[in-house]
Amino acid sequence: MSSQIIPVEPFDYVVFGGTGDLAERKLLPALYHRQMAGQFSEPTRIIGASRTEMTHDEYRKFATDALKEHLKPSELDKEGLEKFCARLFYVAVDAKADKGWDKLKALLDEAKERVRAFYLAVGPALFGDFSEKIRDHKLITKQTRIVVEKPIGRDLESALQLNDTIGKVFKEEQIFRIDHYLGKETVQNLMALRFANALYEPLWNAEHIDHVQLTVAESVGLESRAGYYDKAGALRDMVQNHMLQLLCLVAMEPPSSMDPEAVRDEKLKVLRSLKPITAANVEKTTVRGQYKAGASANGPVKGYLEELEGGVSDTETFVALKAEIGNWRWAGVPFYLRTGKRLVTRMSEIVITFKPVPHSIFDEAAGRISANQLVIRLQPDEGVKQWLMIKDPGPGGMRLRHVPLDMTFAQAFEVRNPDAYERLLLDVIRNNQTLFMRRDEVEAAWRWVDPILKAWDETGQKCQSYTAGTWGPSQAIALIERDGRTWHEGE
Ligand code: BG6
Repeated sequence: MSSQIIPVEPFDYVVFGGTGDLAERKLLPALYHRQMAGQFSEPTRIIGASRTEMTHDEYRKFATDALKEHLKPSELDKEGLEKFCARLFYVAVDAKADKGWDKLKALLDEAKERVRAFYLAVGPALFGDFSEKIRDHKLITKQTRIVVEKPIGRDLESALQLNDTIGKVFKEEQIFRIDHYLGKETVQNLMALRFANALYEPLWNAEHIDHVQLTVAESVGLESRAGYYDKAGALRDMVQNHMLQLLCLVAMEPPSSMDPEAVRDEKLKVLRSLKPITAANVEKTTVRGQYKAGASANGPVKGYLEELEGGVSDTETFVALKAEIGNWRWAGVPFYLRTGKRLVTRMSEIVITFKPVPHSIFDEAAGRISANQLVIRLQPDEGVKQWLMIKDPGPGGMRLRHVPLDMTFAQAFEVRNPDAYERLLLDVIRNNQTLFMRRDEVEAAWRWVDPILKAWDETGQKCQSYTAGTWGPSQAIALIERDGRTWHEGE
């Protein structure tokens, strides 16, 4: 089975921060893959821009090196690479000075009618400066879009300011706020599963679902991001955006269509229905953790504080929490969320546990009846498993077994699984906002997260330490086990 490729119209993608880490690791490889899939129409250009002085050819060399480093050798095609390089251009610009902007304007004005996307692959402190320069140099056309990434603020107030700053220059429909989790294949499959099957939706509520678990586990540590991460922590870095977006897709009401506003309206309602976590209940409903030295699959690893090189810090590298949604569909159904760095393995999944059967007709010899679970695996080994009870095959008495109906996508479909950025970068060109966060969503997420941060502060809730290479602090296990449930750590 193969996927259908529909080319997008020609575009000019300007990547500010074009020589940075995001461009090198994600954006350039994603654009290359889309070109190779036949999704570009000609003439399409990619324009790198940053402060460094560089010629077009030097940028082509930079991009070639980036692709060689981040793609598999089998994915690199000589002709394809030459074609990709031919569409690359470079202009040196400074967000704080006028130098270079005229050159960029001259280049872009060669094709005034073409779709024009500005990707701000730079820190949020520069969003305002770049937006203003783009406006002041008259680079905004009818077909212009701007793409920004998290962190969109570090609390509600700074998020409001940032959104205002960009909003002064661009209209909301021109602003694409990326949450790369929404571009992941299985995340979109969650929508297909829920809304293209008659099977699940009637059961998708408090009457039939016992609880939901969301886990985003990472095996990496701080990497080289101490400056950002130590000021952010896991709640801001992962929960405020990625995990709340996942929660919204699980919990939202069926939108009337895939229209961006219809989908985002429903997600917003979920965010607004989250019950507040405050100083009164924060200790019971949240756990903060920080890793100490331990082991990864590749051997011993340092603790967080050692990685900070002697720093003192109470920043959480792990968080587990119990969220509740105050509406009719989800009354009394807890959503347990956990995420952390330096955990046992890299694994993200959504687990929906259904309620047990109301009465068993089988005798004890048949064994225990386990609850049905739907496991949606985001990474690695993307796929969906529906766990069911069946009879152990063969003669003899009735013995029951819990087995998965397994649909591992890599086996089921012979297509390369695209990186999240591939879809999202081209959705910008298609002008499709469905998988992007609207301003009010980002702000509603902060409205729920801010009181948790405040409550941690007020109650002085400290990080529990956990050994690198484990599932986090024991208190996170207690958080769910107190309710008579356990974290799903199986297949
Ligand atoms: C980013 C976070 O948004 O997502 C990182 O800032 C994290 O800390 C990353 O490592 C995880 O993304 P993925 O796609 O590797 O799960």
